[in-house]
Amino acid sequence: MIKKSGGMRIGILTAGGDCPGLNAAIRGVGKTAIVNYGMTLIGISDGFTGMINKEYRELTEHDLSGILTLGGTILGTSREKPFKSNGKNKKDIKKPQLIREHYEQMGLDCLVCIGGNGTLKTAYLLSKEGLNVIGIPKTIDNDVWGTDITFGFDSAVNIATEAIDRLHSTANSHKRIMVIELMGHNAGWIALYSGIAGGGDVILIPEIPYNEEKIAEYLLHRVEENKPYSIVVVAEGIVNPGKERSVAHYLGSRIFELTGLETRETVLGYIQRGGTPSPMDRVLATRYGTAAAEMIASRDFGKMVALKNDEIVSVPLVEVSGKLKLVKADNPLVTQARNMGTCFGNI
Ligand code: F6P
Repeated sequence: MIKKSGGMRIGILTAGGDCPGLNAAIRGVGKTAIVNYGMTLIGISDGFTGMINKEYRELTEHDLSGILTLGGTILGTSREKPFKSNGKNKKDIKKPQLIREHYEQMGLDCLVCIGGNGTLKTAYLLSKEGLNVIGIPKTIDNDVWGTDITFGFDSAVNIATEAIDRLHSTANSHKRIMVIELMGHNAGWIALYSGIAGGGDVILIPEIPYNEEKIAEYLLHRVEENKPYSIVVVAEGIVNPGKERSVAHYLGSRIFELTGLETRETVLGYIQRGGTPSPMDRVLATRYGTAAAEMIASRDFGKMVALKNDEIVSVPLVEVSGKLKLVKADNPLVTQARNMGTCFGNI
C-alpha cells in the first residue's frame, strides 16, 4: 500500500572516504522510499561533485537489488567540499549556489547525504541554505559526533583484527616486535577495538600521548618475563616525529634503537575500507537507511539519523557539524585493557 508522500523526489549521495555498508544504506533508504512511500529516488554521482555538475540518474527498485553485500558505493564518491573556497577561484565560490540551483532544477524534495564529518558539515551548511537535508553517518573511523557507532567501523575492526591475529604467528616464529598501523584519521577507535580483540600488547591512539622510552621499557620487561614477541598496534593519527614515512616505520626504528629487539612494520591501509560489509554493518546501515526514509516521509529535515543505546533517533545537524567523537582517556575499554597489562604508551 503506497502511503501519502508519494511523488516526492529524493536525491541521495555518498561523499568522503568510502566504507563497507554504503550500498546497504542506499538500499535501505531506496527500498523504503520507493516501496513504502512511492517516492522517486535520484542517485547523485560522486558525492557533491554530482550536485555541482548535475550528474545523476533515477534509481529503481531493480537497481537496489543485490547491493546489500556489495562493498564500496554504486554512486561513487569524492572529497569535494563545496563550501571550502579560497575566495579566489570564481567556480569554487559559486558551488553552493550551483548546488541550490540544480537541487531546484532536479525537482528534489530532499537530499540524503551519506558521509562522515566533512560531509555532514556540508549537509548542515546546505540545510542553512534552505535545502531539505537528511544526514546518514558512515565512516570506518567511528568519529562522528552524536551517534554511538557508524557503519563501516565494524567491518574495519574485523579486517584489522584478522590482520593482527595473523601477525601473532609470524611474530612468535621469529621472536620479533610487530608494529601494525591502522586507519582512523584523528581518532583511535579502530586501533582500540582491534587492538583489544587481537590481543595487542601495546595500543597507541592519538587521544593518549605516548612516550617512546616507556614503550621500550615495557617491551624489554616482556622479554625478561619470557614473552619472546610483542604486538604493537598504532593508530595512524598518533604523533609522528618522523614525518618522512609512516608512523609505524618511525616507531619500528625507534623501538629497535632503544631495545635492540628485531622489529618489523605493517601498514594495513585501504584494505580496511574494502570488501563486503560485516553482518553488523549491513544491519546498522539498513536501520539508518530505513529510518532516513521515515524522516523524509514525516518531513523531519535538517537532521542526522543516529543510534543512541541501540535506539534509532534523529539529531539536529547543527549539533553534529564540525565536531569529532574521540576516545576519552578514561574510556572503560582503555581502563580495562590497562588493568590487564596492556600498555597505552605512557604509564
Ligand atoms: O576517513 C576514512 C579514512 O580512511 C581515514 O581512516 C583515513 O585517514 C582517510 O580516510 C584516508 O583518506 P583518503 O581516502 O583520502 O586517502
